[in-house]
Amino acid sequence: TDFASLGDVRGKRVLVRSDLNVPLDGTTITDDGRVRASVPTISALAEAGARVVVCAHLGRPKGEPEEKYSLRPVVGRLSELLGRPVTFAEDTVGPSAQAAVDGMSDGDVVLLENLRFNAGETAKADEDRAAFADALAGLADAYVSDGFGVVHRKQASVYDVATRLPSAMGGLVRDEVEVLRRLTESPERPYAVVLGGAKVADKLAVIDNLMGTADRLLVGGGMVFTFLAAQGHEIGTSLFDADSVEACKGYLERAEREGVEIVLPVDVVVGKEFSADTETDTVAADAMPADAMGLDIGPESARLYADRLADARTVFWNGPMGAFEMAPFAAGTQGVAQALVDATAGGALTVVGGGDSAAAVRQLGFDDGQFGHISTGGGASLEYLEGKELPGIAILTKEH
Ligand code: 3PG
Repeated sequence: TDFASLGDVRGKRVLVRSDLNVPLDGTTITDDGRVRASVPTISALAEAGARVVVCAHLGRPKGEPEEKYSLRPVVGRLSELLGRPVTFAEDTVGPSAQAAVDGMSDGDVVLLENLRFNAGETAKADEDRAAFADALAGLADAYVSDGFGVVHRKQASVYDVATRLPSAMGGLVRDEVEVLRRLTESPERPYAVVLGGAKVADKLAVIDNLMGTADRLLVGGGMVFTFLAAQGHEIGTSLFDADSVEACKGYLERAEREGVEIVLPVDVVVGKEFSADTETDTVAADAMPADAMGLDIGPESARLYADRLADARTVFWNGPMGAFEMAPFAAGTQGVAQALVDATAGGALTVVGGGDSAAAVRQLGFDDGQFGHISTGGGASLEYLEGKELPGIAILTKEH
C-alpha cells in the first residue's frame, strides 16, 4: 500500500490531508470530483484499522471561521462515497476536534473543520505556522499527504506537519505525479498544450517552461487578447493585461526562432457585455470591433484547434477557452474538450489539469473516463509543469 512505510496502522490515529475544495452552490456540491478522488486513500486507511482524521480547506477564508466556508456540506457526500459514517468536528484543532478524535474506534473517520479558519495554516513565515502545525500534529500519530491540489502550498497541513509526524505520500498524490512526470520527462510527440483562463500573468512561468518541452501551444480564454494586442490588433473591451504585453511579444518571437507553434484564434465570439443574454457576433480575430469584448474562440478557431490536436500523442489542457458557464460562449471549450476525447480514443495521453477545467468538462456533459487523466490540481499541476519544486512533495522525501 501507499502507507506501508508507516507500518501497521491499526489503532493509530492517521491525519490525512485531502483536497476537498469543491465548488458549492449554497450548501450543494456542484462538482464532487475532489471528494471522489479523496476516497480511496481514506477508505484504505479505515479498512486497515486506522483512526482516520481527515483535514482539508474550502475556499480562501481569512484565518477565522466563516459559515459560508464551512466543510460541513462535504460530510454527507464523503460519508456516502466511503460507505461509512463520518463524524464532523466543529473546529479544526480545538475542543471539538480533540473530543471527536478521542472518541474514535479503529476504522472510524473524522473530518475536521476548514483548516483555513486558523491563521496559522497559511501564514507566510515558518514560525507563524508552528503553533498550529503542532496542534494539528498533536491530534495524530502519523500523517498521509493526499491533497494533490495543495502540494504547491507551503502551509501547515501540507508542509509543517510532515516534519512532526511519521509521514507518507497518499495514492492520489503518487498517481498525479506519475502522470505529470510522463509529460515533463519524455512526452510522446507531437506534444500539444492548450492553455486558457483569464490572466496571462498567471501563466507566464508555465508558458516559459513549456516553450522548451511542448511542440504546440494553443492559446484560449481571456489571455488571448493580450496576445492579440501584442500583435497590434484591436481588442475592444476584452480582458487585457498591459503588464504582460512585452512577455507575449517575447514568446511569439521565441516561438518563431525555436520552432514552437503558438496557435492563436483566427475568429472570436464577441459580446457587448459579460452576460448570457448580451448581443453576440462572430468576428475575425484581427478585426474586432472597438465596443465589444471577446468571450470565446470562434467556430473556425475551434476547428483549427481540433486539427492541431488530432495527431498529437500527448496533450495537456488547463483553462477554459471562453466564458463557458454562459451558453453562447461555451462552444470553444466544448470543441477543445471533444478534441481531447477524440485524441484519447486515438491512443494519445490526454491530461486535463485543474479543478476548474475538470469541473468545466463535467458540466459540459463529458465523462472522466473519456480523458486519459483528470487532475485534481490546477495550480499544483501548472507549477509541476513549470518545473518548480512543490513543497508538499519535497518535504516528504527530505530527512528531518
Ligand atoms: C485549488 O483549488 O486549486 C486547490 O484546492 C488550492 O486552493 P488555493 O489556490 O486556495 O490554495
